[in-house]
Amino acid sequence: MVLNDSQQANPNLYLVGFMGVGKSALGRRAARELGFRFLDSDAQIEKKQGMRIPEIFETQGEATFRRYEREFIESGHPDHGCVVSCGGGLVIEPGMKELLKSKGVVICLFATVESIIERTGRNKNRPLLNVPDPAAKIRALLKEREPIYMESGSCITTDGRTIPEVVRHMIRIYKSNARNFQPHDS
Ligand code: S3P
Repeated sequence: MVLNDSQQANPNLYLVGFMGVGKSALGRRAARELGFRFLDSDAQIEKKQGMRIPEIFETQGEATFRRYEREFIESGHPDHGCVVSCGGGLVIEPGMKELLKSKGVVICLFATVESIIERTGRNKNRPLLNVPDPAAKIRALLKEREPIYMESGSCITTDGRTIPEVVRHMIRIYKSNARNFQPHDS
């Protein structure tokens, strides 16, 4: 693959991790500091489908939503110069962590279950948590997903740290990984 200087120097940064860990807020700030474009996979899918996420789940089902996520990563965004905040289940589907790693630097954000429960309780735009006992659902999903998150990229915890601290850490990791990054087929 022949790369131009900008692709070589500015591979995308993909942020993954469970709902409510702060991917969007942290990603926006990291993008500003890097001079990159910020993209959110959920927002891009909503724009393309002309529907909110709960409506997509309700009318087309989760499997179709997962296909939209894969299409967005495969071909729906620029190949460099972006910070991409990925919906919490995007990296979980088979083959997706390999695909992300082939396209850029991947950082996985973590938070305690307590802060996830607190943060996700504030909005109703997450169909998987629209159940009678969202805390139990969060614990079950986390247990199932944690091993995959752990292998998805460089892991950073957000708890007990300020936003600027976490962003600095993210940028440090991004820069050191970006230096050696070569895009490849997954
Ligand atoms: C999901 C996470 C959500 C969104 C959808 C499904 C998941 O994104 O993609 O509700 O499976 O974890 P956020 O992680 O941005 O909330």
